[in-house]
Amino acid sequence: MSDLRIAVLGVGIMGADHVARLATRISGARVTVVNDFLTEKAEAVAAGVPGCRAVGDPLDAIADPDIDAVVLATPGPTHDKQLLACLDHGKPVLCEKPLTTDVESSLEIVKREAELGKRLIQVGFMRRFDDEYVQLKALMDAGEFGRPLVLHCVHRNPAVPPSFDSSMVVKDSLVHEVDVTRFLFDEEIASIQIIKPATNPGAPQGIQDPQIAIMRTNSGKHVDVELFVTTGVAYEVRTELVGEKGSAFIGLDVGLIRKGGAGTWGGQITPGFRERFGRAYDTEFQRWVNAVQRGNATGDYTDGPSAWDGYAAAAVCAAGVESLQSGQPVTVDMVDRATIPGA
Ligand SMILES: NC(=O)c1ccc[n+]([C@@H]2O[C@H](COP(=O)([O-])OP(=O)(O)OC[C@H]3O[C@@H](n4cnc5c(N)ncnc54)[C@H](O)[C@@H]3O)[C@@H](O)[C@H]2O)c1
Repeated sequence: MSDLRIAVLGVGIMGADHVARLATRISGARVTVVNDFLTEKAEAVAAGVPGCRAVGDPLDAIADPDIDAVVLATPGPTHDKQLLACLDHGKPVLCEKPLTTDVESSLEIVKREAELGKRLIQVGFMRRFDDEYVQLKALMDAGEFGRPLVLHCVHRNPAVPPSFDSSMVVKDSLVHEVDVTRFLFDEEIASIQIIKPATNPGAPQGIQDPQIAIMRTNSGKHVDVELFVTTGVAYEVRTELVGEKGSAFIGLDVGLIRKGGAGTWGGQITPGFRERFGRAYDTEFQRWVNAVQRGNATGDYTDGPSAWDGYAAAAVCAAGVESLQSGQPVTVDMVDRATIPGA
């Protein structure tokens, strides 16, 4: 089978990483087009990849007849229009989270894809491809912990850009635990409350950090998440599942442990999400490429989180942002999936 010809839109932090990933570590695909709002940036990236050219308009890149599939690594507010163009042209697309930045447009995307009768959209919730989450899910599904009851999560970043505000802690950080919850428990989230403890004096003015999110699933399972995005330390993502017959912990950073001359011992914490989830992104991309290669035979060009998963995450985060303002638990407002055949 010939290599897929991929267009990568948006070659900032994630997009440039994905170009390098596709060019060096993923088989069955080549990056043949890149696009960026900043033309020079796209041209510089294209120059580093044999057979790749820069295209000035993202919609031209999607429509290009020499492109088989698209990676969207543009900022969230542009996803809506670019995803609709992918659907119009029947192009499979791996879209970095979020699907879109509001619930209404996410639902519109879900409906438009369902009408086509093909699964073309995969959303980049990469934790579903991380070895530790996969192992935890397999043990849960095998009944090792009995009935799962509670999930305790920690999500800490050393720092965030100055433009990061309190609602972005919910929409950009918590969104990953929202997807993890839905992935591990296989059910929707019914309600969410954001609690605002005393803020970190070192956090930029005006940002509520840390935040504690409390979520309840449809069947009543409890999830709590500590979100703390200005720790100044490193990237820490931990998850503890507590079930009827035991518990399990992932994300402990227990690699090599070294004993030091000053009487200390310890290991290293991953500095950022690219180091912590690097292998997960590679697995995500290889499985997506393989699924797109099979797609004409199966009608399913995805192997991972769907447009519906993107919509569900948007709905929970919208309720989370509402709770951030009111401090009260907010019920998640979602349509019944059964009302959208094919979703
Ligand atoms: N899965 C993850 O772990 C993860 C981590 C970080 C970011 N993300 C997501 O990835 C996406 C990109 O984030 P980033 O951190 O790489 O951002 P970034 O700002 O570093 O890069 C975005 C790039 O898109 C370009 N751009 C802006 N508007 C455009 C348009 N209309 N068409 C084409 N290019 C355009 C910008 O010039 C920039 O180069 C976002 O949706 C973000 O939420 C996901």
